[in-house]
Amino acid sequence: MVGEGTLRIQPDPAQLAQAAADFIAAQARAKPNLSILVATGNTPMPTYIELARRAEAGAVDFTRVTAVQLDEYLGVSDADPRSLWGWMRRSFVEPLGITRTVRLENPEQFKVALAELGGLDLAILGLGPNGHLGFNEPPSQPDAPTRTLTLTPASLASNAAYWGKLDVPTGAITAGMDVILAARACLLLVSGTHKRDILRAALEGPETPAVPASFLRRTALTVIADEAAWG
Ligand code: F6R
Repeated sequence: MVGEGTLRIQPDPAQLAQAAADFIAAQARAKPNLSILVATGNTPMPTYIELARRAEAGAVDFTRVTAVQLDEYLGVSDADPRSLWGWMRRSFVEPLGITRTVRLENPEQFKVALAELGGLDLAILGLGPNGHLGFNEPPSQPDAPTRTLTLTPASLASNAAYWGKLDVPTGAITAGMDVILAARACLLLVSGTHKRDILRAALEGPETPAVPASFLRRTALTVIADEAAWG
């Protein structure tokens, strides 16, 4: 189980977004040049909208933050609606006024860029229906590096919900488990009844490559979940 105070249950997704925005904004105030690994997916979108609102209102300044890409499909162009780089830019980088980014295109360049950054201050993560983090699909060891891989059927099914009639690309690149677990803080956002079992497994089951998110308990982890996800 995660330590006391690191699991925060919110009544609904809107309050989850408020709590997550509070957490991220506090980190950016404490360290304006924060480096953040940024999940896309559905769960963090209300949080990003709230952060953009606060940035626009002048309540918090993200202009010195560096946004680092967590994962990407292989073989999608920038113009492709399925580009996760495009999703990160539209939902996080541009609305928050962020000017510095690290794009994930190949493992070696990514490693060098992260070293130049001095590592990650914060990883904002969603929880895959199969326990994946980024595209670290089960089984993933805690030292799994940044790499290309083939997505599992579970991830193809969950990602299909993002793209309507478009196919989900089967190849992907992900920041490694080694990168995520080395972040100085991790924020895991979890919403919805469909995440209930996997959230319990991640927080209360054994630490196992079969549930990559279970290794987050080795980090300075904050989990913000809604009641639907925690039950
Ligand atoms: C997205 C990502 C994925 C999602 C996860 C949960 O960049 O890395 O690991 O965070 O699949 O997705 P949602 O939030 O859509 O349930």
